[in-house]
Amino acid sequence: MTAPDDLFDSSLTAQYEAYPYPERSAKEESKRLLIGSPSHLREIDYWVFGAQRPTSRPLRALVAGCGTGDGAIMLATHLARAQRPGEVICLDRSKAALAIAQARADVRQLTNIRFIEGSLLELPALELGLFDYIDCCGVLHHLPDPDSTLSALEAMLAPVGAWD
Ligand SMILES: C[S@@+](CC[C@H](N)C(=O)[O-])C[C@H]1O[C@@H](n2cnc3c(N)ncnc32)[C@H](O)[C@@H]1O
Repeated sequence: MTAPDDLFDSSLTAQYEAYPYPERSAKEESKRLLIGSPSHLREIDYWVFGAQRPTSRPLRALVAGCGTGDGAIMLATHLARAQRPGEVICLDRSKAALAIAQARADVRQLTNIRFIEGSLLELPALELGLFDYIDCCGVLHHLPDPDSTLSALEAMLAPVGAWD
């Protein structure tokens, strides 16, 4: 028998395939950079790391449930513009959302961003490694067991890593 949580989760998957969130078009990407929070590089430098983290140290960031890519595109662009080392890993299980995020990154010719289709419910199996910073915004409340996914994300933080 299908558990209610599974039914809820399948309809959520279908929703984000049909309506990738937020609604974005790669065509807009050459006109402006969307700025926000979390994943703003200054916010990470000052509020998350208290200006104690050398900017020359590569920043490995995970945007868990990246959707169509607002936070990830902003962070990868900030890093690239500042010629700072690092990479942004974008994880989502919506193919449609990832396709839009990838198209936005292509317009910006970002080489410091990667897209992974997968579920936050299977984090250990994805073997993504450790991250200095994790952004998981607007996602945990969707999950059948937010606490266990939060713990799985915490386990992926590097020893002096932080999350938003
Ligand atoms: C409200 S959107 C948030 C997108 C982005 N973080 C933002 O703030 O703009 C939620 C996203 O979480 C993704 N999501 C939901 N459950 C997921 C799961 N189990 N694994 C991976 N992604 C998931 C959805 O596909 C969707 O893109």
